[in-house]
Amino acid sequence: METGEKKEMKQFITFEGIDGSGKSTISKEVYEKLKSEGYDVVLTYEPTDTMIGKYVQQCIKTQSDPFVTAFTFIADRIQHCKQIKEWLDVGKIVLCDRYAESTYSYQGAQLQNQIKNPIKWLQELSEDRIIMPDRTFLFVIQPKESLARIKHRDELVPFERLSFLEKVHTNYLKISKGERFLKLDGTKKIDEIVDICYKDIIQ
Ligand code: ADP
Ligand code: TYD
Repeated sequence: METGEKKEMKQFITFEGIDGSGKSTISKEVYEKLKSEGYDVVLTYEPTDTMIGKYVQQCIKTQSDPFVTAFTFIADRIQHCKQIKEWLDVGKIVLCDRYAESTYSYQGAQLQNQIKNPIKWLQELSEDRIIMPDRTFLFVIQPKESLARIKHRDELVPFERLSFLEKVHTNYLKISKGERFLKLDGTKKIDEIVDICYKDIIQ
């Protein structure tokens, strides 16, 4: 790999979308493809496996106060960024399954009737404290279709309800504007989506 080429590559990439949109499947395959081509790559995810991440998962399961949930997701991410920074500093490509737009879209939906403009509030609260990705892939799929994909899961989290996911879906589309975002049709074939992501990362 030439240095000039590497400079143009995207280094920090996040995967976003509603539950069942394909983030885990695609990010894993993109990771495998990059690795098999010799790239130094890490695949990580949120909520994390740390103490804060586990607490966040409890918040979701027990349907905690949405402000507590929002603050803990953001805390989990700020802590996660310390690790992400270390990886980026040594030149690794970092792929992250869910990141900031998850909080803006999900907690934005949870806080919809509680404060004015919750998305803006959440963005202002966290944006200066986290690392900005070079690319965010948004997998676009209708909530009905994504729910059909995951309905067999043993344990669905309380967020996996159609009415809620409709709101999250609307929020994702609203906030995913600008050059950082690449919206992808989540109903395309897996191989096709993986190929688009891979090519976009290495350009
Ligand atoms: P997420 O991580 O966004 O919740 P997953 O990657 O776990 O979603 O995918 C949910 C389900 O949908 C899995 O059974 C997966 O195999 C399937 N799936 C993912 N992407 C596609 C796709 N493009 N076409 C058809 N099925 C898919
Ligand atoms: P995850 O385990 O990634 O779910 P899935 O694989 O189904 O996409 O995330 C668990 C839940 O946490 C999911 O419903 C989305 C939600 N979530 C938030 O509400 N806010 C956040 O900031 C993040 C990262 C996840």
